[in-house]
Amino acid sequence: MKSFTAVAALAGFVSSVAAHGFISSPTPRQPGQGLKAACGDQVYNQQSSDKYGNVQGALQNLQGSHPDCRMWQCKGVPFADAGEVFQYTAGQVIPMTVEIRAPHDGVANVSIVKVSSDTVVGQPLISWDQYALTSSPISAHPDWTSFDITMPDVSAECATAGDCVIQWYWNAASIDQTYESCIDFTMGGGSGSGTSPAPVSSAKPSASAAAPVASSAPVASATPTPASPAASPSPSKVAEVEATPTPSAGAGTGGSGSLPKTFTLDTFVAWLKENAGSDVANNVRRMVAAQRAHARAFRV
Ligand SMILES: *[C@@H]1O[C@H](CO)[C@@H](O)[C@H](O)[C@H]1NC(C)=O
Repeated sequence: MKSFTAVAALAGFVSSVAAHGFISSPTPRQPGQGLKAACGDQVYNQQSSDKYGNVQGALQNLQGSHPDCRMWQCKGVPFADAGEVFQYTAGQVIPMTVEIRAPHDGVANVSIVKVSSDTVVGQPLISWDQYALTSSPISAHPDWTSFDITMPDVSAECATAGDCVIQWYWNAASIDQTYESCIDFTMGGGSGSGTSPAPVSSAKPSASAAAPVASSAPVASATPTPASPAASPSPSKVAEVEATPTPSAGAGTGGSGSLPKTFTLDTFVAWLKENAGSDVANNVRRMVAAQRAHARAFRV
């Protein structure tokens, strides 16, 4: 009986853990020491081992009081963890690529967010009413993972590094999973040459980004390689887009990627490893061993 329950729970888990994604280009913020300082060790540990997870999962790892943790902005990753600070100009077209490791039906958009107020500046730059549907392979929708945005003139709002981000936002409401990933940029107004970028150290990111990690901000990237910074960050083709089988895989009549109707734990873990990655597979293995949900893998 116990094993039946475990399998039923796991089958449910497979369909609900599915979604996973992050910006791959231009270089986004990555979970780092700034996240650790703002949101604590557990959040940092989880995101640094799997940056593709969702906001709700990250919130479950929030322990203790972290007043500077803004989990609904860039999934908590602050300016201190900027990957690069790009200099953009009004009208500039920016190719973006997103890695969707596992899809789930949702809506999505890319917007400029003013960091201090956490508000969207103007309209979304692009949006999708239907995004990352599980009913259709990701490969059939290249526009979900590779697309252009055109920068509006936000030089008034976004002159200083840390003022604004370009945020990719994907919400799979049916499973209550939201994904966010952010690109740092400045817009100086006018030609894009001339005004040298403000040194990162003079930026005033939210207090959360503060002291201990300032040196980890990529100062180098804010220094001139200006002429056409990142104008064409040559979106190396998304290497790792992988579609997972439809959530009904548990029913198991389908193609080669599906699980059979009955299966051993080892088969299941091997299947998971194939379809959801070894982290998830290992978490499940551990969970079964411990006979309880793994804190990082499951939302109850
Ligand atoms: C667009 O993304 C922002 C976050 O960047 C979010 O607050 C907003 O609800 C999204 N809009 C839609 C229509 O999904």
